Amino acid sequence: MTSTANTISLSLSTTHNPSSLSKPKSLPDFYLRFRNQNPKLTRVGISVTNPNNRIRTLSTIRASTASVMEASSKEKSLPTIVEVDLGNRSYPIYIGSGLLDQPELLQRHVHGKRVLVVTNSTVAPLYLDKVVDALTRGNPNVSVDSVILPDGEKYKNMETLMKVFDKAIESRLDRRCTFVALGGGVIGDMCGFAAASFLRGVNFIQIPTTVMAQVDSSVGGKTGINHPLGKNLIGAFYQPQCVLIDTDTLNTLPDRELASGLAEVIKYGLIRDAVFFEWQEKNIAALMARDPSAMAYAIKRSCENKAEVVSLDEKESGLRATLNLGHTFGHAIETGFGYGGWLHGEAVAAGMVMAVDMSYRLGWIDDLLVKRVHNILQQAKLPTAPPDTITVEMFKSVMAVDKKVADGLLRLILLKGSLGNCVFTGDYDRKALDETLRAFCKS
Ligand SMILES: NC(=O)c1ccc[n+]([C@@H]2O[C@H](COP(=O)([O-])OP(=O)(O)OC[C@H]3O[C@@H](n4cnc5c(N)ncnc54)[C@H](O)[C@@H]3O)[C@@H](O)[C@H]2O)c1
Ligand SMILES: [Zn+2]
Repeated sequence: MTSTANTISLSLSTTHNPSSLSKPKSLPDFYLRFRNQNPKLTRVGISVTNPNNRIRTLSTIRASTASVMEASSKEKSLPTIVEVDLGNRSYPIYIGSGLLDQPELLQRHVHGKRVLVVTNSTVAPLYLDKVVDALTRGNPNVSVDSVILPDGEKYKNMETLMKVFDKAIESRLDRRCTFVALGGGVIGDMCGFAAASFLRGVNFIQIPTTVMAQVDSSVGGKTGINHPLGKNLIGAFYQPQCVLIDTDTLNTLPDRELASGLAEVIKYGLIRDAVFFEWQEKNIAALMARDPSAMAYAIKRSCENKAEVVSLDEKESGLRATLNLGHTFGHAIETGFGYGGWLHGEAVAAGMVMAVDMSYRLGWIDDLLVKRVHNILQQAKLPTAPPDTITVEMFKSVMAVDKKVADGLLRLILLKGSLGNCVFTGDYDRKALDETLRAFCKS
């Protein structure tokens, strides 16, 4: 191996004809690993020689930074890779523009020869052909089936899940197949749960296509469906083989869905990343305008935050629960309105305002933080209060079956101290909760 300030060259010897060798699939990973140690690295070259000294250059990777910020360039760009560190179940999150045009990224994580793509009636016409092509290009041994589910949170239920099993069984898939989730959080959660339970577990890949799914739901292995009495009450922890985020898919996402996903981005800043929150305050207009570099950074930083939390507390014994800031109030809004009225991120935004209000009433945060939260949510065109028709009783009855109730005590994620700090606790004055509910409900 030789290296200069910005180039690493690897020379390998082989007794085979070098022209029969193909480009190593892990080259981007290799490049990024070296680049972490040598930020100036802009080039990796691999050449192979055989005993006759015939040289074939297998591959050269060039990049000025390993960032999706340049992803808009026409060149095939390298993905940014965020690793979810879970021992032998660790997996990469690939982030970048045009990644669905890089079949090797997906194919290296497909196990077996059969793939079932699970998607919905909105996403299928946009991206199903592209994904099938990415799975099969240069890979004729792989056959792909697909199941197209109806679109919407109200279909995130047992009946729809059965359609996935019906298709898998009709297609005679065996344990060595791979399920691919192509869509937003609803598809990711359902496909993941189907993969966790079909034949007691098959391989699974996430291709998230909404901001919500790219910054949150596709990472960390929470899968499941709703029950009429509560959201996500039936499910499993089940990690994918990889998450492939092609940021180009956001080009077709409606504005309201984009804003909904930003609620989760803002959440990471509030609970654990003050510097990220400050960056968001400065860049919220760019994010709303879909500036590719701002969006790519927000996705990357969100995935890093989520990956870190999940690595430390995969099964939510404590720390991971903090990712649910605003969700207990938010789930009450979603459930109270029959799934589908408010988007998940919209409900979470209103829920975060309520959690922040309660934190302030408890004397745990100052009023400036309350204002900053309102401000950024307003700029993101997200709601800062629950719907007018919701009542204190509706909140209380839905909150009673929340998964964070332990021994009859409702634990909440509340902000405490300076920006970027929060607690997950049942140790708070009940009066503050009642006051918050009354302040936000007309009856
Ligand atoms: N598992 C987790 O850790 C986790 C975390 C957060 C949210 N969630 C779940 O995620 C779900 C919400 O996810 P969501 O906000 O992605 O909703 P969603 O899956 O319903 O997608 C939103 C809408 O956008 C459409 N869509 C998706 N990609 C598109 C694209 N590229 N172009 C155009 N339209 C597109 C969908 O068809 C749908 O109509 C909820 O069920 C929530 O409970 C799970
Ligand atoms: Zn959420």
